[in-house]
Amino acid sequence: MITIVSQPIGNHKITKSCFFFVYEGVITLMFEKVPSAPPDPILGLTEAYQQDAHAEKVNLTVGVYKDESGVTPILNCVREAEHRLLTQENTKAYLGIAGFPDFQRHVQDLLFGSELQVQAATVQTPGGTAALRVAADFIKQHFSGMSVWLSDPTWANHANVFHAAGLQTDKYTYFDAAANQLDIDGMLQALENIPNGHAVLLHACCHNPTGVDPSLEQWEQITDVVVRRGLLPVVDFAYQGFGDGLEDDAAGLRLLMAKAPELLICNSFSKNFGLYRERVGAMTVVASSSDTVSAAFSQIKRSVRANYSNPPAHGAAIVSTVLADAALWEQWEVEVAQMRERIQAMRDKFVETTQAMGTPVDFSFLQQQRGMFSFSGLTPLQVDELRHQHAIYVVGSGRINVAGLTDENMDRVCRAIVAVLSS
Ligand code: LMR
Repeated sequence: MITIVSQPIGNHKITKSCFFFVYEGVITLMFEKVPSAPPDPILGLTEAYQQDAHAEKVNLTVGVYKDESGVTPILNCVREAEHRLLTQENTKAYLGIAGFPDFQRHVQDLLFGSELQVQAATVQTPGGTAALRVAADFIKQHFSGMSVWLSDPTWANHANVFHAAGLQTDKYTYFDAAANQLDIDGMLQALENIPNGHAVLLHACCHNPTGVDPSLEQWEQITDVVVRRGLLPVVDFAYQGFGDGLEDDAAGLRLLMAKAPELLICNSFSKNFGLYRERVGAMTVVASSSDTVSAAFSQIKRSVRANYSNPPAHGAAIVSTVLADAALWEQWEVEVAQMRERIQAMRDKFVETTQAMGTPVDFSFLQQQRGMFSFSGLTPLQVDELRHQHAIYVVGSGRINVAGLTDENMDRVCRAIVAVLSS
C-alpha cells in the first residue's frame, strides 16, 4: 500500500519539506526522479549572460528594445499614465475573467481599425504568451485532432506553448535561407498541403525570428489558400508598430480578416508599450455571428478561470489610460516611431560597419527586414564562438536582436562577427 505523508517519519533525517511515498517501509523521494530540463533557448541565454563576468559583454538574445544608451526605457506616455493611475485608482479588487472592458475595446480598435466590421470578443491576458496559451487551450478543448502548423523557423517558444496544451505542431515552409527572403512559393505550396480543418499560425508582422514579412500581395495569396483550404488562422501579433507603423503593420491581418470567417488573434503590448514585465496582452476570437462569438467567449472564460482565474490589472490599466486619451495616444505613436526608427538606423549602421570591416558576408539584407530581429545566418558553431571568445550573446539559431545594438556596442559586435565569419 502507498501512503502519502507530509512529515518525516521515525529516525529518517529528511529536512526538505516535501511529500514522499512510504512503500513497504522504503522511503522514495519523488522529486529525485525529476530530470533537469534544458535551459530555455532564449531566456536561458539571458541567465547565462547575467553570470558572465566579461566587462564588455553584449546581450543580443531576448527581444527587448534598448535605447541609444543601452537601457530599456519606460515610455513617457507610460510614466504619465502610471502617475494618473497612482492618484486615481481606488481599488485592487479582482478584475473580471476577461479583464477591463475598455481595454478589450482598445485592443479591437488597434486590430481592426475604423473600417472593418467583425464579430469578435477579447480576453485580456498576462502577456502575448498567455494569449497563445489561451488560444491553444481553446483549440485543444474543442477541436480534436487539430494540429497547429508553425512557420519554419518560428519563435522558439511557439511549439512549447502548444505542446504544453497537449496539441501537436507541424511546420510549413517559410524562409529561403540562401536568398534571405520569404520563400513564398514554398509557403503557398506547404499551406495547400495542410489538411483541411487544421490551424496555421501566422505572424502579423516583424516575423520572429527572421524579420522577413510577406508583402500585401503575398498576404492576399496566403489568405486565398488559408480560406480555400478551410484552415483556422491563429495570428501572433506581438510587434504592432515596430515594422512600418501601427496601421501598416495591421494591413496583412486585416486582409485576412476580411475573408477568413474565423480567427484567433494573440497580441502583446510588451514591445510597443515597453511593458515587458507587466505582462499585458490579449486573445481575440473572431467568428461569423455574434452567437458563435458569445459561445466561444464563454468557453474561453471558463478555461481562463481554470488557469490563472483573471488577469493582472496594472499593465492593461496603463494601456487603456494611454489609448483613451488623444494626447497620450499621439505621444505613444511618436514614441513607437522613435523605437522603430532607431532599430532601422541600427540595421543601416550594422551593414555599413561590417562592410567597412571587410565582412565576408554581405549583410545588406538586414535593411529589408522589419522589427527587432534578424536571422544573421550565423551557424550554431559561430554563435558559440561569439559567446565564448567575445562575450557576445545571440540566440542559437543565429537570430540577432537588432534592437539591442547601440552606437557604443556596434564596433565591438561587428568586429567580433566579422572575426568569427573570417575564422
Ligand atoms: C523573444 O522572442 O525574444 C521575445 O518574444 C521574448 C520571449 O519571451 O522569448
